Amino acid sequence: MTHTATRLQDLHAPFAPLLRIVLAQAALRRVDRALDLACGPGLKTGWLAAALQPGGWALGVDADRRALHEACAMTEDRRVEWAAGDALALPLRDACVDLCWCVAALHQFADPALALCEMRRVMRRGGTLVVATVEQLWVRARSWPPDLSAALSGALAVSGGDPGLLPADGLADALIARLATAGFTAIRARAFLLDATLMPWVQELTLADWPHLRTRVASLLDAVILERCDAYAAAEPEPVIAPVLLIASALKAE
Ligand SMILES: C[S@@+](CC[C@H](N)C(=O)[O-])C[C@H]1O[C@@H](n2cnc3c(N)ncnc32)[C@H](O)[C@@H]1O
Repeated sequence: MTHTATRLQDLHAPFAPLLRIVLAQAALRRVDRALDLACGPGLKTGWLAAALQPGGWALGVDADRRALHEACAMTEDRRVEWAAGDALALPLRDACVDLCWCVAALHQFADPALALCEMRRVMRRGGTLVVATVEQLWVRARSWPPDLSAALSGALAVSGGDPGLLPADGLADALIARLATAGFTAIRARAFLLDATLMPWVQELTLADWPHLRTRVASLLDAVILERCDAYAAAEPEPVIAPVLLIASALKAE
């Protein structure tokens, strides 16, 4: 692996498990053809290939031919192909992929809105989009009372790693609006505080919206603990700037 690919792998290591959870959920819908847009050296394209139905293929597209060359050299999986191309004018026909995956790249595109329209164009109806970005954002990191985490971990066990939280403080609003403007539906966004000392789902809980969360846990917590959570939420911790992983998934309507 080249120095650049190793650096990218190290950089993404803190959130690779989170992305894999989201990919596993996306792959619950049938995936025959997957696109890894702005795949770079292809570090995640193999993940997509592993989620394919038998006979399926994954295509990595990137504007950087050197990165593609490296991706090609590192991959033996015959289900994966590579193509040079611009996210703003994808070298693909309409409606040909079931899963479009774009990680750590949306902000690099000169026109992210156009790129999202291109993603939608090449997706089949009913296909899934996953977009992930890491941003430095103002956040209120909330360390909830431990009883809340305990109550939620039960829900986590039955939901395959997704506690069904919403990001607080409008953290994902801009990304959601971008996807909605591009015509996607069933948009779901998740925000994770990138802090390796926390379990993945606690990274999400830390940035969770309390009014939404409250409706889910009110029946699970006793009144005293619920009150403690209410008081904690009302206290509004001071915002700080921190790295946040935003992951949005959406569908191209049937
Ligand atoms: C930070 S890397 C992410 C690589 C990969 N998605 C990953 O998660 O490992 C961003 C990639 O976006 C690619 N890129 C930037 N602008 C592009 C464009 N307009 N079209 C296609 N790829 C582009 C770059 O060449 C680079 O490989």
